[in-house]
Amino acid sequence: MQQPWSIYLLAIFMLGLDSKLVGQAFQPEFAEPLMNITIPVGRDATFRCLVQNLGGYRVGWVKADTKAIQAIHVHVITNNHRVAVSHNGPTVWNLHIRSVQEEDRGQYMCQINTDPMKSQIGYLDVVVSPDFIAEETSGDIMVPEGGTARVSCRARGMPEPRVMWRREDGADIVLRESNGIKTKVAVYEEEVLTLNKISRSDMGAYLCIASNGVPPSVSKRIIIKVHFHPVIQVPNQLIGAPLGTDTTLECYVESSPKSINYWVRDSNEMVISSSKYEVMNTVISSFESRMALTVRRLTEEDIGGYRCVAKNSLGETDSLIRIYEILGPTVRNTSPVTRRGDLKYSTPIEDPDEQFGSAERSDDEDETTDVTDRLQYQTRNRTVQHTTNSAHEQKLSNKVRKISNKFEIKSGFETNSCCRVHSYNLHIAILVLNFYAYN
Ligand SMILES: *[C@@H]1O[C@H](CO)[C@@H](O)[C@H](O)[C@H]1NC(C)=O
Ligand SMILES: *[C@@H]1O[C@H](CO)[C@@H](O)[C@H](O)[C@H]1NC(C)=O
Repeated sequence: MQQPWSIYLLAIFMLGLDSKLVGQAFQPEFAEPLMNITIPVGRDATFRCLVQNLGGYRVGWVKADTKAIQAIHVHVITNNHRVAVSHNGPTVWNLHIRSVQEEDRGQYMCQINTDPMKSQIGYLDVVVSPDFIAEETSGDIMVPEGGTARVSCRARGMPEPRVMWRREDGADIVLRESNGIKTKVAVYEEEVLTLNKISRSDMGAYLCIASNGVPPSVSKRIIIKVHFHPVIQVPNQLIGAPLGTDTTLECYVESSPKSINYWVRDSNEMVISSSKYEVMNTVISSFESRMALTVRRLTEEDIGGYRCVAKNSLGETDSLIRIYEILGPTVRNTSPVTRRGDLKYSTPIEDPDEQFGSAERSDDEDETTDVTDRLQYQTRNRTVQHTTNSAHEQKLSNKVRKISNKFEIKSGFETNSCCRVHSYNLHIAILVLNFYAYN
């Protein structure tokens, strides 16, 4: 609270009166300047005024900006109960401010009541560590893919805090401007982070950190979720296996929010784990998972189509995988040339030992007289490889190539559209391939 002028004047008058009684052999002098103090709010501050030859003069303290008298000699004048004074002999005069508050910030003057008055000034700076302003700081958000996510973090503190953003996983923040320019930064220094045309790869935890040099800095974790329709990728849409073996089908799903994933047979019967089937869902990331279905001891009834289905609140998608029968190694040994056995499918990106088709390749390598003709086409980003391996099947192979080329064009055209259409086309292509293989 401000001191009334009357008390200020009265105090000066009293000081003056005292000094005249004592006389002035030596003039008092300040022995050193008042130190400036920088202190976090809540702590205690002490100004120390060093005076030589004080004699009969008195030392007083005034808050220079408000002119409020804090203390005279050993008496506290202000009614701020956090202020106290102490001294050590006639030389060391202290002004104590307990539990410093922001309103205590300012200039403090140590005065000696000489005529004219002598004084020196020290500055009390009160600093405040950063703190988020709750109303202006975002919580977790969800945005549809392609939309805009805008998150803000505002902090108070003294000095004014700096706010920066980074991704918790250490990946770069991708900033897309409306003119299409894309920049990647590890750290973004603004209070508001705007992610335009947001993509699923932008999904994750973002940290906003506010700091102003006064510890502790504060950080807030904001999760940005990107929602999109589920998408399925199938590395291998045709699986050849001999009866009696175990066969695994797999689908890769991207979905947010997380999808419910399941398998159905072409009869629309749902496939659930049993002695026949093993159904497995493996989480790869916050929005990616792998679906695997193992069909044990393949029988005639198991030949056919299996659809992996992924469903979330935004929609549903599925993809078809077909199991077809090929003759097992023991059968092949007795009749090496069978047309069906000559068309094999493998997925080079997979561990070759996991795929029956690839495991068979060693048989082919033994047949040194074979002419090997490999056809490749892309299913989305994955490669499916056909191998035909006998010279007198070259004609068939040429037919296959033609169909494959046709398919490649279609497939290439559709890589961006949904996989449902894609798998449908593949299905058609497979039927045609099978037709030529059998004829
Ligand atoms: C205190 O700060 C002021 C500026 O605010 C400066 O002029 C003065 O020299 C400082 N005093 C000391 C003792 O450093
Ligand atoms: C797709 O292929 C490109 C080029 O071969 C590669 O850089 C990229 O990582 C692949 N993407 C996936 C999802 O496999």
